[in-house]
Amino acid sequence: MPRFVAAFFWPAASLARGRAACRAGRQYDNGLLVLVIALVTPTRSCHVDSGGLMRVLLVGATGLLGTEIKRILEPQHEVITASRKGSDVSVDLSDKASIVAMFGEAGKVGAVVCVGGAAKFAPLDSLGDDDYAFSLANKLMGQVNLVRCAVGHVDEGGSVTLTSGTLAQQAMVGGAAVSIVNAGVEGFARVAALELEGKLRVNVVSPGWVAETLQSMGQDPSQGIAAADVARVYKRAIDEPITGQTLLAAKS
Ligand SMILES: NC(=O)c1ccc[n+]([C@@H]2O[C@H](COP(=O)([O-])OP(=O)(O)OC[C@H]3O[C@@H](n4cnc5c(N)ncnc54)[C@H](OP(=O)(O)O)[C@@H]3O)[C@@H](O)[C@H]2O)c1
Repeated sequence: MPRFVAAFFWPAASLARGRAACRAGRQYDNGLLVLVIALVTPTRSCHVDSGGLMRVLLVGATGLLGTEIKRILEPQHEVITASRKGSDVSVDLSDKASIVAMFGEAGKVGAVVCVGGAAKFAPLDSLGDDDYAFSLANKLMGQVNLVRCAVGHVDEGGSVTLTSGTLAQQAMVGGAAVSIVNAGVEGFARVAALELEGKLRVNVVSPGWVAETLQSMGQDPSQGIAAADVARVYKRAIDEPITGQTLLAAKS
C-alpha cells in the first residue's frame, strides 16, 4: 500500500513544543469553515495514509452518523461494519471480550472509527446507580477498551477515532451522565495518544446536535449540523497526520 509518512525532524526543543501542541490542541470544524484554535503541529510519529485503499473498522456503523461515515469512506476504503446487530461483525462495546473477538474477526486494519455506545440522558433526580453504571460501561469504557484492544490490530501510524459530544464542555439539564462520559473520553484520548505515539494515533470527534437527530425529536433541524458534515470530520481524523486532538463538529 502506498504510504506517505509525514515526518518532521525538529530540534529537541521545538519537537517537545510540537508534541505538546499536537496532543493538547483542539480544532473547531463546522463542515465548511475550519477554525483552527490551537497550533496543530504533527509529531514526527504522526503518519498518514496517502489515500490508498485502507481497511477501516467502523463501530456503530448502522446508526445515523455511522451510515454517513460509511457512505463517505466507501469510495476510497474497505469499510468493515460493526455493531450489536446487522453489521459485518457483531460487537457489544460494554463487553471487553466481545471487543477482543471483534478485532480477531476483523483482522488487521488501518483505522478504527467508533460512533457506537450510549449514555443515559436524564435529570439528576432520576439518574440511578444503574444509569451511571450503564453509561460508564458503555460509551466510556467501551471506547477506552476499544483503544486498549486496538493496539497490535491497527497498522503502524494508523488511527482510532472516538466520539464524545459537546456536553463534554457544555452544561445542559439532563446531561450529567453524558457529560461525565464525553469528558472522560476526551481526557483518556489525550493520554492514550501521548503513550501510544508512534504506534497508534488517537483522536476524538465531538459532534454538536445533529440536524437529523433534532428533526427526529421534533425540533428545528436548522439548529444542528448535518450528519454528512459530521462524517467529513471523522474522515479528517483518519486522513490527517494528527493525534491527541478533539475535533469539534458543530454548527457555528
Ligand atoms: N446524533 C447526535 O445529535 C449526536 C450529538 C452528539 C454526540 N453524538 C454521539 O455520536 C455517537 C453516534 O450517534 P448516532 O446519532 O449516530 O447514534 P445512533 O443512530 O443511535 O447509532 C448508534 C450506533 O451504535 C451502535 N451501538 C449502540 N450501542 C452499542 C454497543 N453497546 N456496542 C456496539 N454498538 C453499539 C448501534 O447499533 P446496535 O444498536 O445494533 O448496536 C448503532 O449502530 C454517539 O456516541 C452519540 O452520543 C450524537
